[in-house]
Amino acid sequence: MRSIGYIVLFLGVINCDLIENPFLKSVNTFAGETLTSVLDVLSNGPIHLARNLGLTGDIPILLNNENLVNGDRILIDFRKGLGNEDIDLHVMELMLKYGYPAEEHKIETNDGYILSMHRIKRDGPPIFLMHGLLGSSDDFVVAGTDSGLAYMLADSGYDVWMGNARGNKHSRAHVEFSTHGSDFWDFSWHEIGTIDLPAMIDYTLNETGNDALKYVGHSQGSTSFFVLMSELPDYNVKVSLMVALAPVAWMSHVKAPLVRLTAPGGPILHLASRALGAREYLPDGGLARLLRTALCGSSNLADVLCSNVMFLMTGFNFDQLNATNLPVIFGHVPSGSAAKQFAHYGQEIVSGEFRQYDYGKLENFRRYGSWDPPRYNVTHISTPVSLFYSEGDWLAQPADVDTLAGQLPNVVDVYKIPLERFNHVDFLYAKDVKILINERLMKLFKLF
Ligand SMILES: *[C@@H]1O[C@H](CO)[C@@H](O)[C@H](O)[C@H]1NC(C)=O
Ligand SMILES: *[C@@H]1O[C@H](CO)[C@@H](O)[C@H](O)[C@H]1NC(C)=O
Ligand SMILES: *[C@@H]1O[C@H](CO)[C@@H](O)[C@H](O)[C@H]1NC(C)=O
Repeated sequence: MRSIGYIVLFLGVINCDLIENPFLKSVNTFAGETLTSVLDVLSNGPIHLARNLGLTGDIPILLNNENLVNGDRILIDFRKGLGNEDIDLHVMELMLKYGYPAEEHKIETNDGYILSMHRIKRDGPPIFLMHGLLGSSDDFVVAGTDSGLAYMLADSGYDVWMGNARGNKHSRAHVEFSTHGSDFWDFSWHEIGTIDLPAMIDYTLNETGNDALKYVGHSQGSTSFFVLMSELPDYNVKVSLMVALAPVAWMSHVKAPLVRLTAPGGPILHLASRALGAREYLPDGGLARLLRTALCGSSNLADVLCSNVMFLMTGFNFDQLNATNLPVIFGHVPSGSAAKQFAHYGQEIVSGEFRQYDYGKLENFRRYGSWDPPRYNVTHISTPVSLFYSEGDWLAQPADVDTLAGQLPNVVDVYKIPLERFNHVDFLYAKDVKILINERLMKLFKLF
């Protein structure tokens, strides 16, 4: 009977009138602990819960009978990989271990964040790699020397520069703010695009003595690029080609259950955000356990695979999953992100627009001079853009990529990965990433 009481409380909270924007730095009426314990009780009935949360038929479930056929094999391979020392190595140590001349550079942005860039120094033209949400420079090396994009580019003579957005594990410093305070975490990918990227691009060009570089952005690494070039079009001439892997701008077709659930307007975030405030997004503890069970079930395999929030967002493509390498990937992913980055994406899902952060009407008016946030005008993007996307990507769905491609003025190549289940993180570390993505991308580089 006690748990029914909690459920009533929970549903009552969902239904009550909520502040228009959950991420305003308003007074937290909900303590994180209270929230966690309410959700913990609820997690006892995952299926019932999933329905209450609005997980209906068209929302994919992460592990089901169809894709669990080789579950035992995956667990065996995964356990084999657990002894790999690369799990605990820093990205610099990894690159040096495998014989690459790695460098770390520190860059201060004009609003005081101290970012790290990682470089594999070569004499060739500079390439800038930018990670996605919850990612870091590690994303481009964890696939290993044979198929990691950073290594392959360096092997071909390119000078490889990898960015790290404010707030990720390599860029957690500020001249004034502590990472424990909400001032530090008050940013979205708008600031990553308009402040971090120009700082890192200018730094790279200056260091290498070039006028332009080539840019590869995965997921949010593409979003932030589109923001930069829309808002500061003078930067277009500094990039001779942009390759977007799993491009994200318009998002109304996102399928990922975790993302849909936590979008503003989705049931969880309204609740959770009151406890979070403008802080880092760390969905561990009760909330993560709850979502994990609801989305993934409670098999041994689920315990292993669904412990990683990145995969909770993207799902699994077992055809392309190298389970032996998964422990290494888990050792490096996810990195940190601000809650506001998630909220901003969530707003896009709800609004169907690609536009600046929505602070609610009054605050929007104060900041932007309009009730609604200004849209990003992607017609300003004159850089040649190549779009790599796939059907099985729950975050960058073909219909949304079409919208983007239809508005960008200079799309030079659109490539749909010819595997139905190829997913959002397969662009980084699928078994066949070398042939499907990296080699094709490098052919394109020769043309621009
Ligand atoms: C540009 O590079 C030169 C030489 O490496 C360095 O002395 C200078 O401080 C750099 N300027 C900026 C703005 O980074
Ligand atoms: C899978 O990962 C293991 C361990 O990192 C690696 O040795 C192997 O080459 C990888 N296999 C493929 C097909 O990438
Ligand atoms: C976008 O920018 C172009 C070129 O500057 C301009 O003609 C157009 O009106 C803008 N569109 C919007 C929606 O602001």
